[in-house]
Formats: sequence, structure tokens, C-alpha cells
Amino acid sequence: MKVLVIDDERNICLAIKGILEDENYCCEYRLNFTDGFKALKEEPFDVVFLDIWLPDRDGTEGLRDIKRYMPEVEVVMISGHGNIENTVDSIRWGAYDFLEKPLSLERILVIVKHLQDKIRLIHDLRESKFNLLKKYDLIGNSPQLLTLRKKIEKIAPSVAWVLVSGENGTGKEHVARLIPMLSKRADKPFVEINCSAVPSELIESELFGHEKGAFTGAVARKLGKVEIANGATLFLDEIGDMESQMQAKLLRVLETGTFTRVGGTDMISSDFRLISATNKNLENEIVVKNFREDLYYRINVIPIEVPPLRQRRDDIPYLVNHFLSEASSLNGLNLRQISPGLMELFVQFDWPGNVRQLKNVVERMVVLSDNEILDINDAPDYLMKGGLQMEEITLSVDSPLKDARDEFEKQYIIKALRATNWNITKASQLLDIERTYLHRKIKAYGLDRARDE
Ligand SMILES: Nc1ncnc2c1ncn2[C@@H]1O[C@H](COP(=O)(O)OP(=O)(O)OP(=O)(O)O)[C@@H](O)[C@H]1O
Ligand SMILES: [Mg+2]
Repeated sequence: MKVLVIDDERNICLAIKGILEDENYCCEYRLNFTDGFKALKEEPFDVVFLDIWLPDRDGTEGLRDIKRYMPEVEVVMISGHGNIENTVDSIRWGAYDFLEKPLSLERILVIVKHLQDKIRLIHDLRESKFNLLKKYDLIGNSPQLLTLRKKIEKIAPSVAWVLVSGENGTGKEHVARLIPMLSKRADKPFVEINCSAVPSELIESELFGHEKGAFTGAVARKLGKVEIANGATLFLDEIGDMESQMQAKLLRVLETGTFTRVGGTDMISSDFRLISATNKNLENEIVVKNFREDLYYRINVIPIEVPPLRQRRDDIPYLVNHFLSEASSLNGLNLRQISPGLMELFVQFDWPGNVRQLKNVVERMVVLSDNEILDINDAPDYLMKGGLQMEEITLSVDSPLKDARDEFEKQYIIKALRATNWNITKASQLLDIERTYLHRKIKAYGLDRARDE
């Protein structure tokens, strides 16, 4: 921590410098405001001791200059006799504390110690916020993901309600958590309730709370999630699974902003930002009368659709590498890597369970395999079987069927060879044919690894 003393009395400067340096703080001094302010602009100081009376500037005005240009610098005023009132006033302008002359060196040390704790706390807080932001960053680089990220950044600072939809495991909750982090409510709670996980007889009290004695087992008043989320974010996960009776009650709360606890009569209001998520197509659910249309329009102010992984395959390598490094460090291992062949297989696979499935597969491989470079042998079997996707083969329709069959076979073999990094044994296992037969096919189709790369 660096301290600057600005006082025209050299003795005072030297005294403060001496005691702080004895305690291993770094301290400099200047004898007038102009020099002091210049020093502050040139290098970072954490704390300034500022005399209220200086030859070239009134100390309270100097304080305002400092707070205007460097609001993070903590200022402690030093007052002489007779201007204690001004000094007290300076607290209003953002001074941290003040000292009276003659100075108590002990008090200086106490103040500096407090400031050090405060600065450390702010630093830690920033760091944890940064870590959280990093945790919920969206990994990937596909055009779909970039569009998604841009949309999230655009809508996050508003208070508009959001409905996140997408298949299982696409990252809906991930997105829902990221949104408030990019808003003014970032340091407010993220209050979450999973509508499909809470039994239907409990969901009302989970959402709205209950009074003591409202039902058997209600031994004390309990606040519900809606109330706790006041001023913060309420996340209703799997909202498509909410029972219709509950949907009606929720709709009333969303329309009026007020509700009563179960067994209570007081009207309670709560101002929350609602983010909902569902893996169901709510428009279809409306048609089959599983979801209320009026509720749908309430919650769906800003729709965010998280696309399935198979529609944004460019993200797969980024996600794989991200989960590899996460799993390696969590398990105290050297950074694991993945062979190009396995990566190809990962990119080709359809991932019905989307990002969650990909993450689980990578984590399992990292834990179970002793190899630093993971390859096909470390991957689950279904990946080998389901992984080979064919692009469309372009042949004119008057081509004989045999040509089409050959072309397909050739492309299919190329895929298998690439997936296994041209390992003939593994490719033949993948295709479930003899090695010698595969060799013959490679020769017949004139396939050549060197030309493929
Ligand atoms: N783009 C991404 N970048 C980094 N991690 C992601 C990304 N998308 C999803 N994840 C991670 O994948 C896992 C599954 O995501 P999440 O739980 O958000 O999916 P979901 O759509 O809510 O799934 P479900 O339908 O099962 O509720 C989580 O660990 C999440 O952090
Ligand atoms: Mg989820």
C-alpha cells in the first residue's frame, strides 16, 4: 500500500513517513498541493494524508479535486487548531477520516491499518465478481453463440423479463445466471426455484412463503422466493412444468406485483426481475392446454433461444478445451489434451444431451484415463458409433446406383480415418470391418493421408 502526505510542515511529513516506513508501508510526501496532486496523477497512491491548510490550495477544495479525478484514493484530512469544523465537513466530501494536530502517531497507524483492510476487501470483492463472471462466461465462437452473447449483453442492463428456452443441457441456466451479472443487480441475490423439482403441494409455499400454523408442519413463518427476490432476480426454472392451478396464482402475482403468504392476509409486494427457463415449446403447450397463454405473454417479454449444440458445432472444440482444463485443474492433473481424431469425433457427434453431456463425457475421460492426450480409446463407445455424419454427396441423379454407393462408402471411410487420426486398426473397429479389407478399400479409392491433411 502506498501513502502520500501533503503538508507544508516538513516535520509532520517526516514523522508520518517515519512511522509508516517502520511498519513497512511505502510513503512519500509533498510540501504543497500542486506538487502533491501532480504526484497523484503520475503514480498510483492508495491513501493521502492531506493538510486542511496549504499555502497554494484550501485542503477541502483539494479533497474535492482528488475525489473528482481519483475517486478510489482514500483521503485522511489533517486539521490544525481552529479549523476542526471544516475538517468534519470534509467527511461529507468523501474524506475517510481526519486527524487533529498535534498528531497521534498511534492513530495514524490504526487508520492506515483499517484502510488497508478496506482496500483488500474491495479488491477481494472485485476479484470474486470477476471469477463469477468468468464462471458464467459463454464459451464458444460460433456465429450462433456470438449472436446469443450480443443479445444477452444488450438486454442484460435493462429490467425486462426474459424467457430462456432450449433443449436439455444447452445452457439455459448458464445464460439465466449470466444476465443479472451484467446488470445493476449483479450483487443482489439470484433466487432460484425449479418448478419441476418441487412437489406440487409445496410449490405455493416455496414461492410465496407461509405464516406460522398455515398447515401442519408450518412451525414458523417462512419467506417465499418471490419475497426474497425483492430488488433482485427471480429465476423460475422449468416453468413449463408448473401445474395449471399454480400458473394462475403466479400470473396474478406477475400482474399485480403483490401476493399473500400461505395462511396469511397481509398483501406483500415484491419488485423482482423475472427470468424463466423451459425446455418445452410453450406455444405447443398452449395449444394442448398445458400452459396458459396469458402467462406465456407475461413472462415472454424478451425471448432467448439457446440453440442445440449440433447446430453450432464450431463451439465444440472451444467447449472441449474449456472443460478439459477445468476438469484437469479440479482433479489436480496436468492439463489434459485431446487427439485430433477424437476432436473430430466430438465435432461430428450429435450430442442429444448438448453441453451438459459434452461436459460430463470430458470430465469422465479426464478422471478415468491415465493418458495426458486423450484419444478414441478413452471415449465412450456410443460416440464412436453415432459420430460419423455425412455431408450431402453431390451426384447427378442419372448416375448409376453403384457410383452413389461407392461414393458414400469412400466418404464414410474418409470420415472414419479422420476420426481415428488414420489409425487403421481403430478405423476398422469403428467401421466393424477387417483391417485387411479396409487396406484394400483405401487402395481402391486411392485414399492418402498426406493428401488429406
Ligand atoms: N456456452 C457455455 N459455456 C460454458 N459452459 C456452458 C455453456 N453452456 C452450458 N455450459 C455448462 O453446461 C452445463 C449445462 O448447462 P445448464 O445447466 O445451463 O443447461 P440447461 O439448459 O439449464 O439444462 P437442463 O435442460 O438440463 O436444465 C452447465 O455446467 C453449464 O455451466
Ligand atoms: Mg437447467
